Amino acid sequence: MLVHFSTLLIEPPGIDSELLKLMLAPEKFQVKSAECGTEAWNLIQETEPPDLVVIDIDLPHIGEIRIGGTQLLQLLGKKDGWCDTPKIVLTSAPNASIPKQLPISQIAAIILKPYDPMRLMNEVNDCIARQMDLHVEEINRQHIQLAGLLRELLNSSKNNSAITSFNKQLKHFLSFTESHFAFEENFMCRHNYPDFSMHHQNHNALLMKIKSMIDKVMNDDSSNHLEMLDSLKQELFSDVNDDKSYITFLQDMRMQLMT
Ligand SMILES: [Fe+2]
Ligand SMILES: [Fe+2]
Repeated sequence: MLVHFSTLLIEPPGIDSELLKLMLAPEKFQVKSAECGTEAWNLIQETEPPDLVVIDIDLPHIGEIRIGGTQLLQLLGKKDGWCDTPKIVLTSAPNASIPKQLPISQIAAIILKPYDPMRLMNEVNDCIARQMDLHVEEINRQHIQLAGLLRELLNSSKNNSAITSFNKQLKHFLSFTESHFAFEENFMCRHNYPDFSMHHQNHNALLMKIKSMIDKVMNDDSSNHLEMLDSLKQELFSDVNDDKSYITFLQDMRMQLMT
């Protein structure tokens, strides 16, 4: 079975760390690990953000450049791509003192050591399931926005809007579609979606179509915008339909996580 989820484990070496790696069953999770703040920070510079960071805040200070657990969390909180990655914090400090030190909004859970391994795994699974739910919600939200932009384009075309403003709308539509496709593809790629390559090709074909429409509108006033938009609409709907298979894939992954 393919590994679908990725975790960065930042914890000093020892039994806890070994147990955690064992629990994050290798057939479900790809686990990268670091044993101190500096090693973790170096790893973070050269790695794509994972689905989850598990960090022991009581990290040893090793080497000349010393980065503690709290400092590392603060650095992660400001780093693109990593600030939204959920973090589970392991600590031996009493609960009450933690919120004062950490950017608490980015912390999915704080677990006091010694911890119950089952509770930790429940937090890990809940955390990833929540991320997947948010991803699907965001895809749906973006689809609604795409449909709205397309509707505006159709209205402009029916109302014979000036070519310059129509073209501006088309360019905005292109830029939104590009970022929507990038959003989907990033997640698909990181989670081994089996139809990724075909989906990517379809996305590219659709982007080419919008670009060629922009060229036509710019160079030829007589082109039939409504006809072009209609064909664009069909292809966009067909992609949204393909996305349903992707969402089913995500739902299956979510189910697997809980079993
Ligand atoms: Fe989509
Ligand atoms: Fe798509």
